[in-house]
Amino acid sequence: MTPSTGLLNGHDLPMLGLGTWDLRGTACETVIPQALEMGYRHIDTAWMYENQREVGVGLRASGVARDQYFLTSKIWKTHLRPGDVRTQHAENLEQLGLDCVDLLLVHWPVDDVPIDETMGAFAELVDAGQVTSVGVSNFSEEQLDAACAACPHSVTVNQVKYNVLTAPEALRAHCQSQGVVVTAWTPTTRGEVDNREAVRGAAAAHGKSATQVCLRWLVQKGVVVIPKSTSVDHLRENMDIFDWELSVAQMVALDGLG
Ligand SMILES: NC(=O)c1ccc[n+]([C@@H]2O[C@H](COP(=O)([O-])OP(=O)(O)OC[C@H]3O[C@@H](n4cnc5c(N)ncnc54)[C@H](OP(=O)(O)O)[C@@H]3O)[C@@H](O)[C@H]2O)c1
Repeated sequence: MTPSTGLLNGHDLPMLGLGTWDLRGTACETVIPQALEMGYRHIDTAWMYENQREVGVGLRASGVARDQYFLTSKIWKTHLRPGDVRTQHAENLEQLGLDCVDLLLVHWPVDDVPIDETMGAFAELVDAGQVTSVGVSNFSEEQLDAACAACPHSVTVNQVKYNVLTAPEALRAHCQSQGVVVTAWTPTTRGEVDNREAVRGAAAAHGKSATQVCLRWLVQKGVVVIPKSTSVDHLRENMDIFDWELSVAQMVALDGLG
């Protein structure tokens, strides 16, 4: 099993999840149970990914009990008015075949819907037992503060693009100072840094791959990672990031890539 981090509302979020953007059809239905069988306990999806039926099929095929995995979904930016939030989340639950998601995120911030309306609707879904924790995605510091002030429940997570090339360190510090967990999307850089010396050097020193170094750099900062993979070997490799540590010098060298 992978380690977890505590959320502001007392629930736990596994530090490693399986991303599912662009994972569709039978590949999705196959990979989800493979990942759960290996020990993944956190799956990241969204209404916008158009794969929630396959995610649901994969979850049921795994045989893993509902209270043993953490499922994140998101509400797309076209549906942030309260009635639209309720409608789209009903679709989330119907597509996934679940009664409740563990974490529901505002997928992207928008200017034309007041955040208190959206967060009020999210809080009602918590009160109705259809969502356990609420969060946001792609929110700046100011947008996060506004969401926290507007939400009757804790805003627990901000999911943002975060990797050794795109490193929003000030945003991370701000989130973590408020107790908001940061989750990194595109955590691997999709191979863009495999030949950089800071990555190659750390990988050689630890006997790990470039992708593992990228993921370890994030978890060592307290950032949750959700790499997507369709390969059993990569899924297994991406789990092997918790029982070894990058040195301070290696962390600094990797920080320098951003
Ligand atoms: N909130 C948002 O707005 C937002 C935006 C984008 C993404 N996301 C979420 O974040 C997740 C991750 O982001 P992402 O899919 O953009 O990027 P990613 O997970 O960093 O990269 C995925 C790519 O990396 C490859 N890969 C994975 N592990 C590898 C390994 N060990 N060695 C070599 N290659 C490896 C995968 O290929 P293989 O399949 O061949 O392994 C795939 O092509 C998404 O799936 C989605 O759930 C959220």
